[in-house]
Amino acid sequence: MPYPSSDVPRVRTFHGRSGRLGTQSARAMAELFPVMGLALSDEDAAACFSPGTPVVLEIGSGMGEATAQMAEAAPDTGILAVEVHTAGVAALLRRIDEKGLTNVRVVHADAVSVLERMIPLDSLAGIRLFFPDPWPKARHHKRRFVRPDLVRMAVRRLSPGGRFHAATDWHDYADQMLEVLSGDPELVNEFDGFAPRPDWRPMTRFESKGLRRGHRVWDLMFRRIG
Ligand SMILES: C[S@@+](CC[C@H](N)C(=O)[O-])C[C@H]1O[C@@H](n2cnc3c(N)ncnc32)[C@H](O)[C@@H]1O
Repeated sequence: MPYPSSDVPRVRTFHGRSGRLGTQSARAMAELFPVMGLALSDEDAAACFSPGTPVVLEIGSGMGEATAQMAEAAPDTGILAVEVHTAGVAALLRRIDEKGLTNVRVVHADAVSVLERMIPLDSLAGIRLFFPDPWPKARHHKRRFVRPDLVRMAVRRLSPGGRFHAATDWHDYADQMLEVLSGDPELVNEFDGFAPRPDWRPMTRFESKGLRRGHRVWDLMFRRIG
């Protein structure tokens, strides 16, 4: 293992899913994944971009709507989108292909393992965690991604000055995020509490679903001290 392991407990932050892939998704996995996808390995994931490219890691890219739009708007940034569910990986691969994007790679794996094994320390320009699974029941809170040990592992992969940007539509998770991120010894809040919603963050289906249910949305933007 090339990068120091954090020994984080193995609690899955995602829901198990089953079911067959549709024809288009299966075709995307067969034809596009070998070109624009990465499987879990011990190789530096950023090696797929030109040397010197700033790299942003997105944890849980879902169906990839926001990922593809943000990548299109920042063609000089390398985007590593990590998603564990195959249908989401396939959907993002198809969007990348349709838009002809060359600055996105999709990692089909658990982001905890990806951080441990494929991301060198002090290397990322940013980490995005948009609408992570909220795990609303108290007995499931241990599955939430934003907890001190996982955040610590992620922050150590940011370069000095690199940004950790999270968003959620669950009020108690937003409060937990604020507490955990504020408690990390190397993060500083760019705002006084929650951040204003940046207009460059595209709406995802999870965000619009939350808004339809009457939820508010909270953004959090922190930087690793430089
Ligand atoms: C609620 S969805 C939000 C997706 C997307 N960010 C959006 O806003 O539409 C959370 C996503 O994170 C993924 N996820 C959760 N834990 C993960 C992990 N450890 N590694 C990779 N993906 C993960 C889930 O599979 C799911 O697609």
